Amino acid sequence: DWTPDSFVEETVSDLKAQLGNDKVVLGLSGGVDSSVAAILLHKAIGKNLYCIFVNNGLLRKNEYESVLKQYEGMGLNVKGVDASARFLDALEGVSDPEKKRKAIGRVFIEVFDDEAHLIEDVKWLAQGTIYPDVIESVSATGGPSATIKSHHNVGGLPDFMKLKIVEPLKALFKDEVRRVGASMGMDASILGRHPFPGPGLAIRILGDLTREKVRILQEVDAVFIDNLKSWNLYDSVWQAGAILLPVNSVGVMGDERTYEKCVALRAVESTDGMTADWVNLPYEFLQKTSNEIINKVKGVNRVVYDISSKPPATIEWE
Ligand code: XMP
Repeated sequence: DWTPDSFVEETVSDLKAQLGNDKVVLGLSGGVDSSVAAILLHKAIGKNLYCIFVNNGLLRKNEYESVLKQYEGMGLNVKGVDASARFLDALEGVSDPEKKRKAIGRVFIEVFDDEAHLIEDVKWLAQGTIYPDVIESVSATGGPSATIKSHHNVGGLPDFMKLKIVEPLKALFKDEVRRVGASMGMDASILGRHPFPGPGLAIRILGDLTREKVRILQEVDAVFIDNLKSWNLYDSVWQAGAILLPVNSVGVMGDERTYEKCVALRAVESTDGMTADWVNLPYEFLQKTSNEIINKVKGVNRVVYDISSKPPATIEWE
């Protein structure tokens, strides 16, 4: 019978046997899968697990600092690499969604490869791949937990891709991954985290991207997510986020006419991201959240709520 406890026990002993004294490198994303994979490996090989957490400058507000702190608190040997400037420079003037993804994937590989080279004699690359990633490994979007591998077809293989691969969660579904994490005592704030795309806010800023737009969207997103949490709605939503639209609209403030940005809020119910329904959030919640966004976030004068289901509307707008 499968239980999280027996899975942990068996996997840790298998990993010990498989890895011995070898060094392993793993890219943490802040998400559930890579975090649970890291804790399992840490149990097996301790300090021989080298975790790398890259800030691409496209994470949620304060996410880099708070998640890094959380990882350190769990005893992981983790190195934070703030490469925001490199990513944002590479994205300057890029508005096509697939070109954004490619640029982000390319920079990620460069940064990760540089970091992996600093680990002397590293033998393995660990990934938080789960079973659904294995069965649809090359989906059009890269899938909800796209791993580093799916981005890599840009010329020759970087050195870290030549490492041996270890994927301790390869046979598990998402809910099993969460149960494994819980049985190892991991925090609900990590295990219950909504899925978040690898390219981050870049694909929620429609059209071209600037640092100022990233900042505006981080503020809007933070109000939305904080309110979902304080209204106890966060856990009943599968994924939520805000989208910065490439349109300005007219508004009034006092006696002044304004011409400012419009944002869309999206919250969906889903089991695997392949299909999704928009969530019927309470009107009072939407009312309060909209007011708070417009009052707090300078440059935004209009908020809309996305009531489209997938298919045909994808979860992300790009
Ligand atoms: P869509 O927009 O295709 O999204 O309905 C389905 C799920 O996949 C996530 N997503 C991505 N994840 N890289 C990722 O790691 C991507 O390029 C990407 N595009 C979409 C999306 O957030 C949702 O969970």
